[in-house]
Amino acid sequence: MKKSLIILFLFIYFHNSFATVDSVHDSFFQCFVESKIPTDQISSILYSPNNTSFTNILQSYIRNRRFNVSTTPKPTIILTPTAESHVSAAALCAKKLGVQIKIRSGGHDYEGISYVSETPFIILDMFNFRSININMEDETAWVQSGAYLGELYYRIWEKSNVHGFPAGVCPTVGVGGHISGAGYGNMLRKYGLTVDHVIDAQIVDANGRVLDRASMGEDLFWAIRGGGGGSFGVILAYKIKLVAVPPVVTVFRLEKYANQNATDAVFQYQNVVDTLDNDLFIRVLLQPITRNRTRSVRATFIGLFLGDSSRLLPITNARFPLLGLKKADCQEMSWIKSVLFWGNFDNTTSPTVLLSRTPDSVNFLKRKSDYVKTPISKSGLESLFREMVEIGKVGLVFNSYGGRMSEIPESETPFPHRAGNIFKIQYSVNWNEEGEAADKDYINQIRKLYSFMEPFVSKNPREAYLNYRDLDIGTTDNGKNSYPQGQIYGVKYFKSNFDRLVKVKTAVDPGNLFRNEQSIPTLPFRGRKTRK
Ligand SMILES: Cc1cc2nc3c(=O)[nH]c(=O)nc-3n(C[C@H](O)[C@H](O)[C@H](O)COP(=O)(O)OP(=O)(O)OC[C@H]3O[C@@H](n4cnc5c(N)ncnc54)[C@H](O)[C@@H]3O)c2cc1C
Ligand SMILES: *[C@@H]1O[C@H](CO)[C@@H](O)[C@H](O)[C@H]1NC(C)=O
Ligand SMILES: *[C@@H]1O[C@H](CO)[C@@H](O)[C@H](O)[C@H]1NC(C)=O
Ligand SMILES: *[C@@H]1O[C@H](CO)[C@@H](O)[C@H](O)[C@H]1NC(C)=O
Ligand SMILES: *[C@@H]1O[C@H](CO)[C@@H](O)[C@H](O)[C@H]1NC(C)=O
Ligand SMILES: *[C@@H]1O[C@H](CO)[C@@H](O)[C@H](O)[C@H]1NC(C)=O
Ligand SMILES: *[C@@H]1O[C@H](CO)[C@@H](O)[C@H](O)[C@H]1NC(C)=O
Repeated sequence: MKKSLIILFLFIYFHNSFATVDSVHDSFFQCFVESKIPTDQISSILYSPNNTSFTNILQSYIRNRRFNVSTTPKPTIILTPTAESHVSAAALCAKKLGVQIKIRSGGHDYEGISYVSETPFIILDMFNFRSININMEDETAWVQSGAYLGELYYRIWEKSNVHGFPAGVCPTVGVGGHISGAGYGNMLRKYGLTVDHVIDAQIVDANGRVLDRASMGEDLFWAIRGGGGGSFGVILAYKIKLVAVPPVVTVFRLEKYANQNATDAVFQYQNVVDTLDNDLFIRVLLQPITRNRTRSVRATFIGLFLGDSSRLLPITNARFPLLGLKKADCQEMSWIKSVLFWGNFDNTTSPTVLLSRTPDSVNFLKRKSDYVKTPISKSGLESLFREMVEIGKVGLVFNSYGGRMSEIPESETPFPHRAGNIFKIQYSVNWNEEGEAADKDYINQIRKLYSFMEPFVSKNPREAYLNYRDLDIGTTDNGKNSYPQGQIYGVKYFKSNFDRLVKVKTAVDPGNLFRNEQSIPTLPFRGRKTRK
């Protein structure tokens, strides 16, 4: 008697613990049937935790180990659509069933918000949408959201060695998140942002409709070029315009240490880099290192020049002599080889590596961003280097602005960080130690450096780049003031474009189906409080 009661309790207990997952699974199944999706198709795109490949699919596009641990909240189901009708049904069913839907393309979101949520959620995983159609007649391409940037670069190179595309340098970043969040790469000074080369798009809206530029209208088309994926609908594809690249480009990588005038070189960098020839882009990595048992900071200058070294050297010699660039430092190559160089592949690697979907080893990581509008003084740089050495592991990446970026008005796309910026900073820390204590330590380190940098960077607002997702930028201003939802991150990411994004959001998705931790809020949250 007692025994059977226990069994009954156990049965009820386990039965109930499966109930939510099962009911979400069954409700979606039913709703997809009602949406006229054939059941054999539903069975091949709908994964519940019972399916043996559920975990593998979930982990395949995780790019931050912080969100690959047992305590990371898991989705109740994963949908892997293979047709537009599946995406429409997913949007309509999520709305009908009141379930939060997270959209994932390449999974590179630094805070994992494409596949993690604190409230029950499902994942709409777009990796099957990855076709790339290049049209050399009009130098355009339709690229689906689940394609990798590397796949796009490869497909362009297959057709032409004098065409390229100005997008991110990491080849495994997904098109869906990258372009909807603006996107930039090492041709930024020549060609501006990725979204400056988007001419059409396909999106599934909150009503399940498949829209293109003509049917969505210019407001929504404006919003999905930098306003962030996951606020307005599911991006199926973007149509892009290719850009010209010369048959030979030049790359270089130069390391300087504190005892080799690194400070002077970084100081000079800040004073010239935004006004150099637009064909030249220079990134600086600042990393605390131990060398000869002494802790210091190493500055690595990495360059791309859209031309050969005989045209490059007079430019750097005249304007940036402390870089000390010599002919022997310059490597001339095709544009696609430069993609591999910037992706840290060695020079014997074939471009076919860009088609690989096998994930590299993944670290625990945290990123933050800032914009610099006036050069940091030499003593400021020296104090920064001391601080970096003292803090421990956090590195900084400077990405030069100016050029084409300064010619495009702030309101042209939702991305507002245009003229007036010398460079953008990415704060970067990676670690391998598992556990909450390590997470806490390294996240504290990066926050400490961010706090130290306050006097040197943009103010009111302290601007940030959406694609460098940072959930620290929340609804409070360093704990000083509380703001309604969206106020702080919205203004930091979008400045005055935030208001227009809120209006578009309210018009196209008033029920807030497409939402995440930092999505665009609907109108009731709009009233802006000014900072004291
Ligand atoms: C190693 C690495 C290198 C990077 N290098 C660069 C760089 O050089 N330049 C640069 O600009 N950025 C860079 N980034 C940042 C990158 O651009 C963003 O993380 C981008 O959002 C990633 O897109 P994704 O599709 O891979 O990410 P996901 O994590 O899949 O998505 C990111 C966000 O977009 C939403 N989203 C994704 N797909 C869709 C869709 N189809 N429809 C609607 N919303 C969608 C998600 O819900 C999420 O909110 C880098 C990131 C990493 C991890
Ligand atoms: C998952 O497995 C449990 C236990 O075997 C079962 O009760 C449940 O119906 C399964 N759910 C789905 C969605 O197949
Ligand atoms: C998940 O498992 C169920 C039950 O075994 C099966 O019918 C379904 O096809 C599986 N789904 C996928 C996408 O493989
Ligand atoms: C996630 O963890 C599993 C082990 O649980 C591991 O096999 C996989 O490689 C990890 N993936 C990432 C991206 O960290
Ligand atoms: C550093 O700068 C000084 C003065 O400009 C110069 O004499 C010296 O050669 C430089 N050192 C290095 C290693 O470049
Ligand atoms: C490190 O120390 C050795 C021995 O003192 C010296 O020869 C060498 O130049 C030093 N290296 C650097 C990079 O300073
Ligand atoms: C490749 O790199 C090696 C060492 O970094 C260098 O010696 C070699 O010349 C390079 N080859 C080409 C083709 O650039």
